[in-house]
Amino acid sequence: MSDFAKGDSCLLTDNKGRQFLLTLEEGGTFHYHNGYLSHDEIIGQPDGAVLQSSLGGRLVALKPRMSDYVLKMRRGAQVIYPKDLGAILVWGDIAPGLTVLEAGTGSGALTMGLLRAVGAGGRLISVELRPDHAAHAQRTLESFFGGIPANLDLRIGDVAEVISEVAPDRLVLDLPEPFSVVEAAVAGLPSGAVWISYVPTVPQVQQTAEALHQSGCFYGMRHFEVLHREWKVEGRSVRPNHQMVGHTGFITVARKTQPLRDS
Ligand SMILES: C[S@@+](CC[C@H](N)C(=O)[O-])C[C@H]1O[C@@H](n2cnc3c(N)ncnc32)[C@H](O)[C@@H]1O
Repeated sequence: MSDFAKGDSCLLTDNKGRQFLLTLEEGGTFHYHNGYLSHDEIIGQPDGAVLQSSLGGRLVALKPRMSDYVLKMRRGAQVIYPKDLGAILVWGDIAPGLTVLEAGTGSGALTMGLLRAVGAGGRLISVELRPDHAAHAQRTLESFFGGIPANLDLRIGDVAEVISEVAPDRLVLDLPEPFSVVEAAVAGLPSGAVWISYVPTVPQVQQTAEALHQSGCFYGMRHFEVLHREWKVEGRSVRPNHQMVGHTGFITVARKTQPLRDS
């Protein structure tokens, strides 16, 4: 890993575990309850440097992992949490070289994971209905990747209108009405493509399942949620944390097929 440079993201953690995400600027200063630290003292330091604030507070400087970044970045739309990102990448079978169509871009959290997974040889088209969300995501993605990578195509519009043109290997939907996209997916997804959608409530899952089933072109449908419980491990105090993220969303995954015949 290279040393911190101007323009890099830096995650500072204090001795109570509080975290702060900053973008390093020459002449910039980070302030918190325990004094300040100038960005110039971080620039040139190695990843993992242990530094001191003006009041002697310990600050650990690390390059943020994608999961750190997603949890600390400024949000427009609700992001997909790391626990669900992992499941979407695996169950959506997002692999190097594939063409993936995503909607909505939202805050860009899922976009980061998808783009990393398709690699330089793959392609990600991410569509967002709301121009304000699209602009916010663009800024976030520029900051995370240090620019918009050539294989990321950010578009404004309705995803249903681009499925046929893109004919993606994978369709990844985090929007309120995935069921309204089924008709376009039937027309535009190649046979064998993976559909993966994410919604927060049971009626949305039910409507999505019904629409996929009634289309007669989706097979192997599964629905699940991901439960993630953090543990405290300190000396003899080894137990689950008192608090956890109790609910985020439900994932639906299915494969596009040729029209299924009842048997
Ligand atoms: C929950 S957010 C997505 C968050 C995103 N996955 C992330 O991790 O940051 C849902 C987004 O879908 C967008 N949206 C809703 N319907 C859409 C459609 N038909 N086509 C494209 N985007 C749509 C909304 O404007 C909203 O920004």
